[in-house]
Amino acid sequence: MTVTIRPMDAPIGAEVQNVDLAQDLDGESFRTIEAALAEHSVLVFRDQNLTEDQQLRFSRRFGDLEAHVLSQYNHPKHPEILIVSNVKENGEHIGIYDAGRYWHTDLSYMAVPSKGSILYAIEIPHKDGEPLGDTLFASSAAAYDALPDDTKARIDGLSALYSLDHRHKKLVADGDAEAVLSDEAKTKAPECVHHIVQRHPVTGRKILYVNEGQTAGILDMPAEEGQALLKELLSYCSDASRVYRHKWRVGDVVMWDNLPTQHLAIADYELPDRRYLWRTTLRGQPMG
Ligand code: OGA
Ligand code: MN
Repeated sequence: MTVTIRPMDAPIGAEVQNVDLAQDLDGESFRTIEAALAEHSVLVFRDQNLTEDQQLRFSRRFGDLEAHVLSQYNHPKHPEILIVSNVKENGEHIGIYDAGRYWHTDLSYMAVPSKGSILYAIEIPHKDGEPLGDTLFASSAAAYDALPDDTKARIDGLSALYSLDHRHKKLVADGDAEAVLSDEAKTKAPECVHHIVQRHPVTGRKILYVNEGQTAGILDMPAEEGQALLKELLSYCSDASRVYRHKWRVGDVVMWDNLPTQHLAIADYELPDRRYLWRTTLRGQPMG
């Protein structure tokens, strides 16, 4: 069987069929997947059944992996696997329980953000037979294209400040008292600066690289003007016309190209309904 790519009925995303990610992929299958990722930005593989080592092997085909700075949530035996989960053991969270509460791209608060992430669903909450905890993906390449020409001209060359602390302060302001950032995480992830227009290294498309969760403010501009511009730009990033909404099934592997997309997790479930996924994170390249 050859690997088949079926675009979603959505502006981005495709399902990859006829592939068992537990096996070592041949070169042709891998290249088909790699090309589909560049074209569709989000890939969904249904009905997978992976061990930690199999997820790591598949992930490493795309390059080096990285362990998450919130190291308390990394898999105890495989630090390159981040546990994304609301599950608690002995009263403690065993994974990152509020990943994706705001629109974001993974690790935009690092000088070198990740190239992509791979999320494998092991437990998914349900209500009345329907899955809860959907993940939304938006194209920030399409968001850039949709900007008015004068806005494109205005943001050309501008930079912004990105920080993990910004996200945590938002969480605390929104009532999550547990979301305090450890000193270790603050040291590993000091705030950083990126250009707000990026170019995709493979497709060459321009990307609107600001996000709700991690972009603290636009630089070299009066604060109020910068916040107003940021708000306007963010409205383009999350516009429903550019979104694929993933409804999870156990066994799904969802992989995304991190630079030209943003994602948001819908927190519409809580314990005792369990959600448990493994994430691997692909190391990126220095940005423009
Ligand atoms: C992530 C993330 C969203 C989700 O793992 O990077 O944002 O729905 N997850 O779990
Ligand atoms: Mn994320």
